Amino acid sequence: MKNDIQEVLFSEEQLRAKVAEMGAQITKDYEGKNPLIVSVLKGSYVFMADLTRQIDTKCNIDFMVVSSYGNGTKTTGEVQIIKDIESQIEGRDLLIVEDILDSGVTLSYLMKILKARGANSIRLCTLLSKPERRKVDVHIDYLGFEIPDEFVVGYGLDYAECYRNLPYIGILKPSVYGGK
Ligand code: IMP
Ligand code: MG
Repeated sequence: MKNDIQEVLFSEEQLRAKVAEMGAQITKDYEGKNPLIVSVLKGSYVFMADLTRQIDTKCNIDFMVVSSYGNGTKTTGEVQIIKDIESQIEGRDLLIVEDILDSGVTLSYLMKILKARGANSIRLCTLLSKPERRKVDVHIDYLGFEIPDEFVVGYGLDYAECYRNLPYIGILKPSVYGGK
């Protein structure tokens, strides 16, 4: 598995430090608000588990599964809700937790749906962002790192459902997916 990685972008230590910093900021901003923290599976499962343990205020946790990719490395632009959240959203302060913001298509669609259900506020927290690839403008409230236009895996992020269990984030060798 490790032979397929071209370069480590963020080590376990770098990720831990950044997640702690983000958790501290979120704790401050949501003190006493009992936010509903919603993660978009599967890519964000590792980030969500680490981030929520750095959030030191009462909150609720829920999960959604959406799909826009198939097994490729570029978005198809089609977004499908495969599993919806179980919580009522009306009047709640929502924090959406994502692994990576790429074209922005998935997130802008999701935010629209959740807004329509009457949330009091919706904020977005994403570990990674690829600004060069943005097709739809999406406001990010909490950002871990901006990255260049490379396909990355690990810390929950996959290529064709593999590499999610790498403890760091690395750039996948383009030869693995037949690119460049
Ligand atoms: P968007 O709708 O193009 O912003 O799609 C975002 C989703 O695409 C993310 O939640 C990831 O699941 C996937 N994605 C985008 N770029 C990468 C990458 O470099 N590695 C792994 N998954 C990615
Ligand atoms: Mg994702």
